[in-house]
Amino acid sequence: MSRVFHLPAGSTRSGARRAAASPSGPGPAAAPGPGPRRGGIVAGYLAPHPPHLVYAENPPQNEPRSTGGWEVLRWGYEELRRRLRAHRPDVLVVHAPHWITMVGHHVNCVPNPRGVSVEPIFPHLFRYHYDFRTDVELAEAVVEEGERAGLVTSALREEGVRVDYATIGALHLANPDWDLPVVSLSANNNPYYYSDASLGEMETLGAATRRAIERTGRRAVLLASNSLSHMHWDTEPDLPEDMAAEHPFSHEQYAGDMELLQIVREGPTSRLKDAIPRHIGATASETKAGSLTWLLAAMGWPEVAGDVLAYGTVIATGNAVVEWVAP
Ligand SMILES: [Fe+2]
Repeated sequence: MSRVFHLPAGSTRSGARRAAASPSGPGPAAAPGPGPRRGGIVAGYLAPHPPHLVYAENPPQNEPRSTGGWEVLRWGYEELRRRLRAHRPDVLVVHAPHWITMVGHHVNCVPNPRGVSVEPIFPHLFRYHYDFRTDVELAEAVVEEGERAGLVTSALREEGVRVDYATIGALHLANPDWDLPVVSLSANNNPYYYSDASLGEMETLGAATRRAIERTGRRAVLLASNSLSHMHWDTEPDLPEDMAAEHPFSHEQYAGDMELLQIVREGPTSRLKDAIPRHIGATASETKAGSLTWLLAAMGWPEVAGDVLAYGTVIATGNAVVEWVAP
């Protein structure tokens, strides 16, 4: 795939660059230090972003109004918020599949992104007014560590670039108070165009993200803004939140999600290295965009099980809210 756009992470050239510039290299997450405020990655969440979940909550930032819907997933997010608070992070770091970059991996370094994020297929559900702070020092460190690791990376510094709905959706659902700074990473979209795409680049980006977090001493929570099975309806009920119309796309799609989530629940995360590509092949999973692999790689594929807080479908796509706590 993408040989034009990426320096292959495992090549002699990039490997030499990594060896010279990043002696720490990939490896297990840093051991917990004394005291409750150690830095590093403290937890990661699979935090899917269907605009319907935000629409259903009727937050003041979103223009459309609803009568509810998708409650079980939203209850899972309520539990995520409680747990996220307990981790007391300094920053939320999010990788989202709809900030699409065709050349390399971009990091938002705009100090105060603000504007209106619109879901292009569902503008009647999601027109969200956002205004948040970026942890610019950490964002720049992610760019630097990505470059040192041999990835093509870029810092977005243009004010006024609209933030995509997958970034905003995951951030709102995880932290609707928006009182934590953010680092936002793009998804390089080459996996959608090249049949021999692999998730290897996300291993490298995840390790670079971890090094940046540790270098800057941040206490970080990671968000992977991905749905699971991704076949969906092409017509909408008159009432979008009519739950009588909501169910899995097919038995095969549902069963594929359950197979993956069973492995998540059993752990350890290293089993997901094989399970995620298999699940993508079976269900057209949105994890193809790499957010979940990035998250687990950044956490060093910890020897823990994930905690599935909720599962439900949104226009037939599978969505799970999952927590992994750093050991
Ligand atoms: Fe999506």
